[in-house]
Amino acid sequence: MQLKFDWLIVLENLRRGIMVTDTTLAGPAGPRIIYVNLALLKMTGYGRDELAGKTPRILQGKHTDRAVVGSLKKQLLNREVFHGQTWNYRKSGEPFLMNWYCYAIYGERPKPIYYVAEQEDVTELETLRLKQRLLVNPHDPDALTFFSVLQEWKSARKKA
Ligand SMILES: Cc1cc2nc3c(=O)[nH]c(=O)nc-3n(C[C@H](O)[C@H](O)[C@H](O)COP(=O)(O)O)c2cc1C
Repeated sequence: MQLKFDWLIVLENLRRGIMVTDTTLAGPAGPRIIYVNLALLKMTGYGRDELAGKTPRILQGKHTDRAVVGSLKKQLLNREVFHGQTWNYRKSGEPFLMNWYCYAIYGERPKPIYYVAEQEDVTELETLRLKQRLLVNPHDPDALTFFSVLQEWKSARKKA
């Protein structure tokens, strides 16, 4: 039996950010954002109107790892599920570590109709993990790079 179900309320209230785009991967304008849920708006600081029709590249910046986003594109074109992590930027310019899955949604045809991403800000979690790593090795290169990105933002904000 099919129970009555308001899928939009569920989508809007998921803990993870959800982003749905069209499937135009080629060109600087694509893919275009069709839908984002409330968690995604909260995470990025953008309003819904500021993201609608834009490309998710709006979240990228100085420390975004090109290899990670390059592998996303390659995996989508190979019909694979992408899972990765890189620096993204809130509307304020603040960097945060985005951890996300990205994959195609298929309708009845073999061609994808949407791309969807499940997105999470893991900056706090990584801060705890990498602080522990620094206790073991104060020269841990991954941890030092991570904290230098956050420090760079804090210093820039102080100057402004
Ligand atoms: C559904 C979807 C969500 C995406 N979300 C992000 C994101 O949160 N952060 C990000 O850096 N790139 C994200 N991307 C990747 C960029 O839109 C783009 O595909 C990527 O930068 C690779 O293309 P390029 O090499 O032409 O820039 C997303 C892509 C899709 C299809």
